[in-house]
Amino acid sequence: MDARLPQHIAVIMDGNGRWAEQRGLPRSEGHRAGVDALRRLVRECRSLGIPRVTVYAFSKENWQRPETEIRFLFDLFLRFLREELPELMEQDIRLAFIGEEEDLPFPVRRALEYALRKTSGNRSLTLTLAISYSGREEILRAVRRAMRSGLAPAELTEQRFRGFLYEPGLPDPDLLIRTSGELRLSNFLLFQSAYTELYFIPVLWPDFQAAHLQEALDVYAGRVRRFGRTSEQLRP
Ligand code: IPE
Ligand code: IPE
Ligand code: MG
Repeated sequence: MDARLPQHIAVIMDGNGRWAEQRGLPRSEGHRAGVDALRRLVRECRSLGIPRVTVYAFSKENWQRPETEIRFLFDLFLRFLREELPELMEQDIRLAFIGEEEDLPFPVRRALEYALRKTSGNRSLTLTLAISYSGREEILRAVRRAMRSGLAPAELTEQRFRGFLYEPGLPDPDLLIRTSGELRLSNFLLFQSAYTELYFIPVLWPDFQAAHLQEALDVYAGRVRRFGRTSEQLRP
């Protein structure tokens, strides 16, 4: 395993609206083009041998958007879950989910549960979808669950705490990419990205290509991940 290749990439797929506006199109067209960019990303990661990709598709805060945009997005998620399933199976991709499942419209929830079950045995890549996700909410929910579990406070180790998060097996991302030029996390993976390498790129999400991913991977390969140590300590 090449240590300079991230094993888990998280992506904040931002800029769909601006992409559409620049073309005089409705925002929905940007979201539609965003799905194509996601498909390209997953294929590319799989062929590079990156086993984990987690994408931010809809934040808890995004519920404040106009109802028509929300409805369009959830129709898009529904279509993605249904239409992408044969390809996910063919490519041996497992789907996972983080977020408030109870917030999702019933048909989306049903399609999601079906896709999660159907792809559960796939191994070549795990694609985690973050929908109605909030990092703070995830942490609060984990605290509530830990309290209810009857665990004594002193027994709540970091390892056990992780078990109360949305996806207990989700490793920390090695690399987080945000498109569209915004320099913020917008409530994404707050607990898990403590030591994640951050990469911001001005390109709008629908324009994100394999070459941009390669550029991010090259930058990542050149980073020194010290985790608090001195550079000297890291030398072999
Ligand atoms: C990201 O693109 C997709 C979602 C948040 C669902 P945006 O819709 O935020 O696009 P901009 O940031 O307005 O350009
Ligand atoms: C973050 O993008 C959420 C997703 C990409 C799904 P936003 O566009 O909602 O973030 P802010 O509002 O600019 O911080
Ligand atoms: Mg945005």
